[in-house]
Amino acid sequence: MPVQAFKFGVIGGGLMGKEFASAAARWFHLEGVPARPIITAICDPAPAAREWFQQNVPTVTLATDDLATLLSSDIDAVYVAVPHHLHLPIYRQVIEAGKHLFAEKPFGIDLESAEEITKISAAHPEVKIGISSEFPFYPAVQRIIHHVEAGKFGEIFEIRAAFNHCSDLDPNKPINWKRQIAFNGEYGCMGDLGLHVCHVPFRLGFHPANVRAALSNIVKTRPGPNGEPVLCETWDNATLLCQTEAGTTMLLETKRISPGDTNSWKLEIYGTKMSAQFSTAQPKTLRTLRYQSGQPQEWREESLGQPHAFKSITGHIFEFGFSDAIVQMWAAYLTELAGETPPFRVATPAEALLSHRLFTAALRSQTNGTTEPV
Ligand SMILES: NC(=O)c1ccc[n+]([C@@H]2O[C@H](COP(=O)([O-])OP(=O)(O)OC[C@H]3O[C@@H](n4cnc5c(N)ncnc54)[C@H](O)[C@@H]3O)[C@@H](O)[C@H]2O)c1
Repeated sequence: MPVQAFKFGVIGGGLMGKEFASAAARWFHLEGVPARPIITAICDPAPAAREWFQQNVPTVTLATDDLATLLSSDIDAVYVAVPHHLHLPIYRQVIEAGKHLFAEKPFGIDLESAEEITKISAAHPEVKIGISSEFPFYPAVQRIIHHVEAGKFGEIFEIRAAFNHCSDLDPNKPINWKRQIAFNGEYGCMGDLGLHVCHVPFRLGFHPANVRAALSNIVKTRPGPNGEPVLCETWDNATLLCQTEAGTTMLLETKRISPGDTNSWKLEIYGTKMSAQFSTAQPKTLRTLRYQSGQPQEWREESLGQPHAFKSITGHIFEFGFSDAIVQMWAAYLTELAGETPPFRVATPAEALLSHRLFTAALRSQTNGTTEPV
């Protein structure tokens, strides 16, 4: 089968826009993916971002600060990686222009925006929408997902998922848009990190029916552009204790101030027959415990190499990392664009919308000190 090429425009050439450029540049890393991205256009108001793409991505023929110019160019799809207050207006224009959309989380700055984007996308079923979430593509996580789907855990009674950072422990870290409500949203760390912890539990059918939230704003000011303190108004840490309709406990943590955690994504699933633990802090280690009545309870550690969703040229014993997960995530979305079903789908608009309902209920829970329905 010939590999289909999809011409991409990138809207927002910051941290994540560049990660996509890097993933597209090493596409030959993958084997057997039915489609590939070719980045032909960049749209960003920052000259430095546009110049980076022009210098580093030889296929870029259009660099502009005007969204309409990018959307009227010869592209099939776009990746939008911009601050959260711009999600709704830009996603709207992209979808209405009929371009496939790889969106960033949280998929709108608040619940109202997410509902509006969902409504617009429902009116344009020809547009294929995927949302960024790379951590489920780690080999150990794929293995856990297969075990759950095969029913190996017995009754799952508790899921813990976390995504924790530590650099905000430094009070001298300068303010940026992710720490300001106008650009990041009321959700604070939940908007920034939350879909990452929801994607796998939601995909496996664990949907929170209620939530009791503990949110904290620990560092209240940060140095602004001229060194003067600026309000840092967003929630730094969020711990959400949820239950599903069936009574499964879910503990979902997103923390910007978690001492020692650089970018640690964790998943733990506890069942009556099997339990599993994984953290990107130990990227090749999958811990499992299989329970048999009368037998000792022993955690087993398995060292995993490369057996992930899409085959690659890397030797199977070599370690997997963040940028590999990004490439795998993009392979999943490009497979969808080619009209095929990937081994694991990127996050969907329905999953993003459910995460908004959860985070909005969490805000109510924090304000009222109550357990809130989701
Ligand atoms: N999947 C992940 O692991 C991950 C990691 C970090 C951030 N994100 C998400 O990616 C998105 C972008 O975050 P980032 O860290 O790349 O931010 P960033 O600040 O590094 O980059 C944002 C870019 O958007 C540009 N921009 C601003 N207004 C624009 C406009 N009107 N049109 C086009 N470009 C515009 C800025 O100039 C900047 O270059 C956010 O939604 C964030 O939550 C995802």
